[in-house]
Amino acid sequence: MSDVADATTPITSRHDPRYEVVMYRHVGIDGAWTLDYYRGHGGYASARKALTTMTPAQVIDEVKASKLRGRGGAGFPTGVKWSFMPPVDGRQRLLVVNADESEPGSFKDRYIMEDDPHQLIEGIIIGCYAIQATKAFIYIRGEYGLGYRRLVQAVEEARAAGILGKNALGSDVEVDITVHRGAGAYICGEETALMNSLEGLRGNPRLKPPFPAQAGVYGLPTTINNVTTMTSVVHIIERGADWFASMGTEDSKGTKLYQISGTVVRPGVYELPMGATFRELIYDLAGGPKGEAKGFFPGGSSTPPFPWRDEFLDMPMDYGTLANSGSMLGTGGVIVIPKEKDIVDAMYNVVRFYAHESCGKCTPCREGISTWLPKMYQKLLAGLGTREDLDLMEDMVRNTRGTAFCPLADACAMPVQASFKWFRDEYEYLVDHGTPMYTKNDWWEA
Ligand SMILES: Cc1cc2nc3c(=O)[nH]c(=O)nc-3n(C[C@H](O)[C@H](O)[C@H](O)COP(=O)(O)O)c2cc1C
Repeated sequence: MSDVADATTPITSRHDPRYEVVMYRHVGIDGAWTLDYYRGHGGYASARKALTTMTPAQVIDEVKASKLRGRGGAGFPTGVKWSFMPPVDGRQRLLVVNADESEPGSFKDRYIMEDDPHQLIEGIIIGCYAIQATKAFIYIRGEYGLGYRRLVQAVEEARAAGILGKNALGSDVEVDITVHRGAGAYICGEETALMNSLEGLRGNPRLKPPFPAQAGVYGLPTTINNVTTMTSVVHIIERGADWFASMGTEDSKGTKLYQISGTVVRPGVYELPMGATFRELIYDLAGGPKGEAKGFFPGGSSTPPFPWRDEFLDMPMDYGTLANSGSMLGTGGVIVIPKEKDIVDAMYNVVRFYAHESCGKCTPCREGISTWLPKMYQKLLAGLGTREDLDLMEDMVRNTRGTAFCPLADACAMPVQASFKWFRDEYEYLVDHGTPMYTKNDWWEA
C-alpha cells in the first residue's frame, strides 16, 4: 500500500472567528502530535476525570445527555449505542474506531490522526471505560500513511507513559490500542465489512442481526464509532453535556467538522456548531464558488446533491433537516459542482467509484449498480443514448434503493436519482444532441 495521501497537498483548516474551535484546535500546529505537546495543553485531563471520578454508567449517561450523534455518517446517538453493549459476562469487550474515511469529499478524520492523535487516544480511553472494553482497534484507511505512522507513534508514547496499559493513567482500568491499516477498500468503512477485514477475512458486509454489540469482532461484544465521535467525547466529559448540548439545533448538538471541496476558493475542514447553514460554510468560510456553481453534494458523494438555490443554501446543516429534505448530512463533506461542467459526466465519475468499490456480494449492487449502470453512462456519453434509456436508468436506481445487502448500492443510487430530478435537462440535452450540454468533468475525480 503506497502512502497516497502523503503525496497530496495538505488542506489546512480555517475557522469562523465567531465560533470556538474545539476538536481542531491543535490541527495545523507543528509538533502537536507529540505527547509532550498534548499534555502541555491539558491533554488527558478528561480521561483522568472519567476514570477517577465517574462510573462507566455515568460516562454513558453524560454522553447520552449531550445528545451526541455519531459522526460516521448515519448520525446514530452515541450514548444509546454504548448502552447496547450486553452486561459484563467475563468475555473480552472491544471498541473499534472507524478511521477508514474513504467517502469522496470526506477528510476530517485524517487531520486529527495526523496532527492530534493523542486526542483520539484520549477519546478511546474514555469510550473503552464507558463500555468496559479493555481493547480497542483503530482501523485506518490504508492510504493514510502519515496518519498511521503518527498514530502508532502516539500509541507507543502513551503506552510508555502509562497512559495506556494495565493501569491506564494510574487507575485500575486496563486499555490498550492496536492500530490496523486497511488495504484500500471503501466497503471496509461499512462497520460489518470492517469487522471481517479486521479479522483477516475478505471485506464483505455481514448480515445484521446479530449487531456488533451482540457478536462483533471475533464474535465478541463490540462497539464501532467514528474518529470524531470519539474526539467529541473528550470535550463532553471535560466540559459537560450541557455545554455540548448548548450548541447546535434541537435535532443535532455540538460542533461538527464540515469539509468542503470542489469548485470553491478555500477548500478545507471547518469546525462549526451543528445547524450552521451551507451558505455560511460555502461563502463565509470557503470564500464562495470559483465561478458559477450549479449545485452541491451536502455530505459526501453518496448524499443526493441539491441544485444551487437559496432554499438549499440557507438550510441548516443538521441530521434531521437534511433527512427531511430528501438528502442526508452524511459525513458533512460538501462538494460544490461548477456550472460549466457536465452533470452526466460528473455522475459517471461518481458511479465508477461505487462500481469499483462494490464488493460483489449481492446481485443488485454487482449486476445493477456496478455493471449495468456504468455501461448506460458510457452509452449516453458516447452519444448513443435515448430518452427511453433515461427513463430506464431512473427506474432502475429508484428500484435498487433498499434492495441491496448493505447501503453501498444506495450510496450510488441516491445521488444518481437526485441528479435526474434536478439536472434532467442536461441528460436530455446529451441524448437529443449526442454531445454534453457542458464540458466534460475535469474538476473532480471521485
Ligand atoms: C459503504 C459504507 C462506508 C462507510 N464508511 C465509513 C467510514 O469510512 N468511516 C465511518 O466512521 N463510518 C463509515 N460508515 C458508517 C459505518 O458503517 C458506521 O455507521 C459508523 O462507523 C458508526 O460510527 P458512529 O456511530 O460514530 O457514526 C460507512 C458505511 C457504509 C455503508
